[in-house]
Amino acid sequence: MTTTTPAVPDRQRQVEDELVRTVLASFENTPDPRLKEVMQALVRHLHALIREVRLTDAEWQRAIDFLTAVGHITTDRRQEFVLLSDVLGASMQTINVQHEAGAGATEATVVGPFFVKGSPEIPRGGDMAAGAPGEPCWVEGTVTDTEGNPVPGARLEVWEADGDGLYDVQYDDGHLAGRAHLYTDEEGGYAFWGLTPTPYPIPQDGPVGALLKSTGRSAVRASHLHFMVTASGLRTLITHIFVEDDGLLDSDAVFGVRESLVKRFERQPAGTPTPDGRDLSGRSWTRVRFDIVLRRE
Ligand code: BEZ
Ligand code: FE
Repeated sequence: MTTTTPAVPDRQRQVEDELVRTVLASFENTPDPRLKEVMQALVRHLHALIREVRLTDAEWQRAIDFLTAVGHITTDRRQEFVLLSDVLGASMQTINVQHEAGAGATEATVVGPFFVKGSPEIPRGGDMAAGAPGEPCWVEGTVTDTEGNPVPGARLEVWEADGDGLYDVQYDDGHLAGRAHLYTDEEGGYAFWGLTPTPYPIPQDGPVGALLKSTGRSAVRASHLHFMVTASGLRTLITHIFVEDDGLLDSDAVFGVRESLVKRFERQPAGTPTPDGRDLSGRSWTRVRFDIVLRRE
């Protein structure tokens, strides 16, 4: 994509160029070379933005007020800066540059704000929904390394919103549901009951929500189920799986969808026998397979 630099008289351009050079030079003696590289790139890109749009004083003040509001609403339990990074695609772009495409491992996506430590452990075939409303979903797969070797004992943290589109932590009553951890067996296999993922909006009651509203953007995330997979000697993977026929895959509010993570959740009409003999009292259910490949550290 090309940027448009408005025509600026020569003398004016020289003044602006001179300021960029002076600010860049002020970082010249930064002892940490990486910090120097990042700060000088920040200066170059920030000045290019200001110059490209011919930013007004009022607009710059508005940007500062916006960032101040993002800071004010951020607490130990709410990270509006991460949400801002998510809706600007910065979280996803950081993941892109860190996780080379086509390296043979399962692709990563955003972590989101709803992972919490201390989830209950469930055995193979256990139910992570723990009473949360929604349609049951049987999730199974394997964890292997990029050479195809099974990874026994890998830890899978899984978490998701309930059928009403809410995470347990959004109820403010302290109950834990829709999250658990489990370990792969000797063959690297795993299986658990969760819920068929449903779409839900990201928090909209802060400045980031206001930004989405004023720019006419959707706040809705495509339906997904989160995974964090850790195993000794292998790179930790934070990812989700998405629902093939969701209809929201092209408009995910945080740009988290990757084609390789879109899975078929096979519909099972009420009365279909379950893989582990669980009695679902006449409810329909779904099943999905997700085989996970981890890279060496
Ligand atoms: C989520 O998937 O839970 C999420 C990710 C990014 C921003 C908000 C929510
Ligand atoms: Fe989520």
